[in-house]
Amino acid sequence: MEILLLRLIHIGAGVFWVGSVLTFHLFIQPAVIASGPAATGFTYQLLHHRRFSVAILTSGLVAVIAGITLLVITSNGLDPEILFGASRLGFTVGGAVAILSLGVGALYLFPRTRIVEATIGGLLAEGRPPTPAEQELLAHTGREARAAGWVVSIGLIVAVICMATASYWGLFL
Ligand code: HEM
Repeated sequence: MEILLLRLIHIGAGVFWVGSVLTFHLFIQPAVIASGPAATGFTYQLLHHRRFSVAILTSGLVAVIAGITLLVITSNGLDPEILFGASRLGFTVGGAVAILSLGVGALYLFPRTRIVEATIGGLLAEGRPPTPAEQELLAHTGREARAAGWVVSIGLIVAVICMATASYWGLFL
């Protein structure tokens, strides 16, 4: 029963996490960049009022915490024989890649979304265009966030491939 609930939480949060990261990275962010200043209000709505980046971070944390708990339970308390055995290796590798992706997302990407949110929040509150320094800050932060977005997206795709196929690794290894 405990495992069933954990799997439900783990897979539900994981689906939301990966889906929202890919949707943001492949569709929303490019559309925002292409729209230029016209997207300022939309971006502020998304980040500040809808708390999109907080929702992504929270779903990642929930998926990883539930995943680690599942890993501990199903490997008899992280027994290396089980963790690195052919029938469980996919979960171990996928879990490690997902944890690294969460690390990049939480420690590098998320703080940059806060910089963008705070900067455009100030512009909207004062009803003025950005100064050259603010423009440079937004462009620079956007470039860094985009690069990190690729790392997180690719990491999560690898993690999904591992999780989805892990039960069958034993047939090939
Ligand atoms: C990208 C994020 C993740 C997604 C989308 C995801 C998705 C999934 C899915 C769909 C399953 C079911 C697979 C099956 O039954 O064949 C699963 C199982 C599992 N996941 Fe993940 N997962 C993610 C991250 C993690 C992390 C970070 C860990 C641990 C560090 C982890 C550990 C596990 C374990 C141990 C199972 C097997 C549970 C069992 O045997 O009942 N997952 N995951």
